[in-house]
Amino acid sequence: MTRPAGDVLLEVDDLKVHFPIKRGVVFDRTVGHVYAVDGVDLAIRRGETYGLVGESGCGKSTLGRAILRLNEPTSGSVKFDGTDVAQLKGEELRKARRRMQMIFQDPMSSLDPRQSVESILLEGMHAHGLDKDKEATQRRLRQLLAAVGLPETSLRKYPHEFSGGQRQRIGIARALAVEPDLIVADEPVSALDVSVQAQVVNLLEDLQAQLGLTYVVIAHDLAVVRHISDRIGVMYLGALVEETDADSLYRDPLHPYTRALLSAIPVPDPQVEDTREQILLAGDLPSPANPPSGCRFHTRCPWKQASLCDTDRPQLREIGGGHRVACHYAEDIRDGRIQPHEVEPELVELSGALNPDLGPPDVGTAAEIL
Ligand SMILES: Nc1ncnc2c1ncn2[C@@H]1O[C@H](COP(=O)(O)OP(=O)(O)OP(=O)(O)O)[C@@H](O)[C@H]1O
Ligand code: SF4
Ligand SMILES: [Mg+2]
Repeated sequence: MTRPAGDVLLEVDDLKVHFPIKRGVVFDRTVGHVYAVDGVDLAIRRGETYGLVGESGCGKSTLGRAILRLNEPTSGSVKFDGTDVAQLKGEELRKARRRMQMIFQDPMSSLDPRQSVESILLEGMHAHGLDKDKEATQRRLRQLLAAVGLPETSLRKYPHEFSGGQRQRIGIARALAVEPDLIVADEPVSALDVSVQAQVVNLLEDLQAQLGLTYVVIAHDLAVVRHISDRIGVMYLGALVEETDADSLYRDPLHPYTRALLSAIPVPDPQVEDTREQILLAGDLPSPANPPSGCRFHTRCPWKQASLCDTDRPQLREIGGGHRVACHYAEDIRDGRIQPHEVEPELVELSGALNPDLGPPDVGTAAEIL
């Protein structure tokens, strides 16, 4: 894997998280697997913001949770500040967990409605022995609220007394309470009104500048990650298909999937909007329990070629300037040597082993996810 220049804080190597699909009342037989995360390599520098985007069900949350070991990886490694997190147990794991925190997508369901804000913030501090001195703890609570722009009186209130944006601020304060180095923010603003989204994004940026935090920001909305991210990784069916700095991704998307995603974003200028080419993806996102052979995108790819695409899985490889792409034909596409064509949606056979309950959640079209 190509490591980004600078001081690497997080290194993920060939990470896989496969969930077993169980069947049977008497014997709990494993009849298949959901390949939620299936071979992810990435490295994140200290102080960097890494945006992770992709359609619903492509494995973003599972990857985020596996980084923090909230999901047990099936294989592969996660190195945090040089230590393999998968090998840690007991006290060591608890210590590492303090340094890696998560902001959850839905601030309402991730905050216990029966706990006051004070007790929510104290919980993590207590678990890590950071609440020993009573006076210092009270000072710290006030500091945390000030940092996320909430009044001191919030301490005695309960989650339902706040608006969605304020609840997300409580979620951010809870993550900050234990002084982490890395924060994985899972769709931190998708549950919020557009008018409040910018405030929360600005808050995350300010906190990063003050505290030197490193972020992984998960989103299905490319517009959200564009402004906040230094680099962006695009995920499709459990793996990264493209990764580069935010500007290059928008200026020069190379993977056919990224091109389709970007082509679905409306352009404000009506003249450009009328003439721009939209790439429509044929067919639905295949099930992660039965991913297509070869390149996982071949069933929907307008650039698909007769050889390699449906037989060989392309590796994520660097094609210059730190830009990584998982496509056999990335250079030919970039240089216009091959052109897109109409795609006949290919039927992806569903295995009988599939548990319909575990299929991908509601999958949006490219236009809907942007
Ligand atoms: N605990 C679990 N057991 C079984 N399957 C799971 C589990 N958690 C997630 N999955 C499946 O793994 C796949 C990836 O799910 P994940 O939640 O990581 O996707 P996502 O990209 O975060 O989607 P969204 O944008 O909707 O949040 C989905 O098919 C999902 O149904
Ligand atoms: S490897 Fe083939 S199917 Fe996959 S993205 Fe590239 S051209 Fe499309
Ligand atoms: Mg998710």
